Amino acid sequence: MKFDDDQGKETEWWKKYYVDSNVKKFYEQHHKWHTVEQTQSEIDFVIKTLGISPTGSILDLCCGWGRHTIELAHRGYRSVGIDVSPFLLEKARVDADYNKVEVEFVEADMREIPFQAFFDACIVMYYSFGILDDEGNLATLKAIHKALGSNGRLLLDCYNLFFHLVRGDIRQLPARGWSRDGSNFILNEGDLDAINMISTSREIHIKNNSHLDFELCHRLYTYPELKKLLLETGFKVSALYGNYTGEVFEAKSEHLIIVADKLK
Ligand SMILES: C[S@@+](CC[C@H](N)C(=O)[O-])C[C@H]1O[C@@H](n2cnc3c(N)ncnc32)[C@H](O)[C@@H]1O
Repeated sequence: MKFDDDQGKETEWWKKYYVDSNVKKFYEQHHKWHTVEQTQSEIDFVIKTLGISPTGSILDLCCGWGRHTIELAHRGYRSVGIDVSPFLLEKARVDADYNKVEVEFVEADMREIPFQAFFDACIVMYYSFGILDDEGNLATLKAIHKALGSNGRLLLDCYNLFFHLVRGDIRQLPARGWSRDGSNFILNEGDLDAINMISTSREIHIKNNSHLDFELCHRLYTYPELKKLLLETGFKVSALYGNYTGEVFEAKSEHLIIVADKLK
């Protein structure tokens, strides 16, 4: 999950994508895709599913530009957003001010959550779990466990690897293609490292004489693997869903949403 940067130094892909050169493009694309109505219905689902008391405190881990954190605050929860990206956190703070809600945004790595026995619940939305390698993902679950109070609840939204894999013809990997967005040409490549279960997507955006490279990697987990990992870190799974309308999880589901309870 590490790449060489332009100077030949090793760097984790997510730093380049979310923290450094590419984050503005990420924000432009994703901010457009996730509408306010979508965010509101996702939070309807979160509240109904977790059943946290209206005065409860909720950690939105990997909060991005804070769309869920702010919506939770709107509904009266004490919400805290944590993310590693200063650019996205600044967008989140401006948006919270604009919406006149009180939210705390903290810059931190998901493996080092600076809270202890504090939250009633933690949500990790939109495939943010799996960004790191196995060691990092384990450290993240341990950090969440530490940050939750007793009876704390966790909602983890992961890729459903079956859905993710059948989107293309697996016999043609690496899958390559191109598309056009106005005068911008986009080259795509997707691949899967089947030994380590890491999916990679690359996009090169070419416009005039310049180009932007994006690389994303995700560790794809099966549900039994995640259940085991959660148990090892002190959580017991209490429910599974396949999307934000609450449908049951099955092979064709777009998401793998796990609700788990802190055990000790
Ligand atoms: C797919 S986005 C999801 C954003 C948000 N949860 C949402 O649904 O809009 C992944 C987020 O994880 C954050 N992230 C990536 N690596 C991280 C790390 N090591 N520690 C904390 N946040 C990280 C990124 O900055 C980005 O905001």
